[in-house]
Amino acid sequence: MTNDAIPNLTAFDEAALDRAFASLAQQARDAAAALGTSEAIESFRLEWLGRRQGRLNEISSSWLKAAPPEAKKLLGQRFNALKKLVEDLLDQAAGGGPSDAALAAEAVDITLPGTRRLTGAEHPITRTLNEIVSVFAALGYSVGVGPEVETDYYNFESMNFPPGHPARDTQDTLVVANQERRLQRDRLLLRTHTSPVQMRTMESQPPPVRIVIPGKVHRNDAADATHSPIFHQVEGLCVDTKITFSDLKGTLDHAMKALFGSAVKTRFFPSFFPFTEPSADVQISCIFCGGKGCRKCKQSGWIELLGCGMVDPAVFAFAAGKQPAYDPKKISGFAFGMGVERIAMMKYGISEIGQFFAGDMRFLEQFV
Ligand code: PHE
Repeated sequence: MTNDAIPNLTAFDEAALDRAFASLAQQARDAAAALGTSEAIESFRLEWLGRRQGRLNEISSSWLKAAPPEAKKLLGQRFNALKKLVEDLLDQAAGGGPSDAALAAEAVDITLPGTRRLTGAEHPITRTLNEIVSVFAALGYSVGVGPEVETDYYNFESMNFPPGHPARDTQDTLVVANQERRLQRDRLLLRTHTSPVQMRTMESQPPPVRIVIPGKVHRNDAADATHSPIFHQVEGLCVDTKITFSDLKGTLDHAMKALFGSAVKTRFFPSFFPFTEPSADVQISCIFCGGKGCRKCKQSGWIELLGCGMVDPAVFAFAAGKQPAYDPKKISGFAFGMGVERIAMMKYGISEIGQFFAGDMRFLEQFV
């Protein structure tokens, strides 16, 4: 006999066989319970099932041969049961989870710092736009939106730019192709300003109205340091009884102080828009030099920032087609529109409008 672990069997009665096999089964279970690495599992397999020196091989060659004929069947049954037990133990050890080595390879060092995820941040244009809106929200204005693909009627005609009116040329328009079969008023274009939402708002509700409308607008302008074919505006509209130009002045003077600081002064310069009469450009005292005159304000001490005016009665007349309460004899109002990029450039000292849309993280990270 070559395997020391297999004792000689001298008695072949059932009780003796049971004792001998029970002891072997217990040894197999104890050994299997301690198996960890794949090397240990392999040597367990060799020890028990190895063809030449495995214990089961020894049992069959020494015990089975020595057994008297009447004990061979009893011994064979117990031998098969032990073999099955060893095979089951092996299966469990191999399939019952990763080995120590595999676990060590996958181990996580919980003392290492984690991988930090980049948190998103508001784009400087979105931030400025929200800031402007909240100045007016604090005055009781609600917020509205309208479509960016707009009809000629809302963008121009109802805003008192009749077809062929020269004021249309001041807003070089991107139009949707293949609209020739439609009436001019129904032709689609990319809105050149947020003013069409004035008309959409009045058509959908009677006065009084106090609303700000932030949004994206498009013009066929060549890009340069201060022009981008896509930019953003915040429109404002206030309609009620007895709204006067001094309400307009007071509201915008307050808004500019809220946005740029209480030291800022405003002045209203005569201007022209088809949908307001009278119209004005609002200038603020230069925030860079305090009004003394510098390169930024071209030595004038003033910077032009937005357009505004009293709502033209012709615009109310268009709205009255759907909402008769917009009777220019009974109500009045003012409107204003400001460019968000221009305000953001001033607030953050940015000299190239293209930076907002270039997607350069080195620029954007400054606003986190
Ligand atoms: N819609 C005008 C523009 O884009 C701005 C404006 C709005 C002027 C409202 C007056 C009143 O130039």
